[in-house]
Amino acid sequence: MKRLLLLCLCAMLAACEQDRAAVPPGERSGNRYVGKQLLERYGCAACHRIQGMPLHHTQGGPSLERIAHASYIAGTLPNTQRNLERWIMRPSPGSAMPNLGVTAAEARDMAAYLYNQEAP
Ligand code: HEC
Repeated sequence: MKRLLLLCLCAMLAACEQDRAAVPPGERSGNRYVGKQLLERYGCAACHRIQGMPLHHTQGGPSLERIAHASYIAGTLPNTQRNLERWIMRPSPGSAMPNLGVTAAEARDMAAYLYNQEAP
């Protein structure tokens, strides 16, 4: 019985661990300093409000300042780092966001910045 209880506890802890992995903030992978430079280089701030970046015009896309706290990306994808990276590389074909040819490594760095805009 004791062993079973321990097993349950382990399973619960493992589930918690997984849940935590689904919550974006925290620099799990990717370099947010490099990410910031990439976001600037790709001109993401031409369409999005991003903290620490000069704003060109905002007609294009939604503000990304609070993306770390959003439940969904573009209203459809659950907000996980993996989905954010996917979206940056390949926005849904029907959306007004252009595919800018961002690589996987670049998307990871960008996500690291977007999820940590509040950090100094
Ligand atoms: C030409 C304007 C434009 C550019 C440039 C652009 N986006 Fe977007 N982006 C959009 C639009 C429009 C949407 C909303 C799409 C939708 O909801 O279907 C969007 C949505 C997003 C979302 C989801 C936002 C949310 O609230 O869920 C993210 C994240 C994002 N863009 C990141 C980026 C990144 C990173 C770059 C630079 C590599 C970039 N975008 C460049 C127009 C743009």
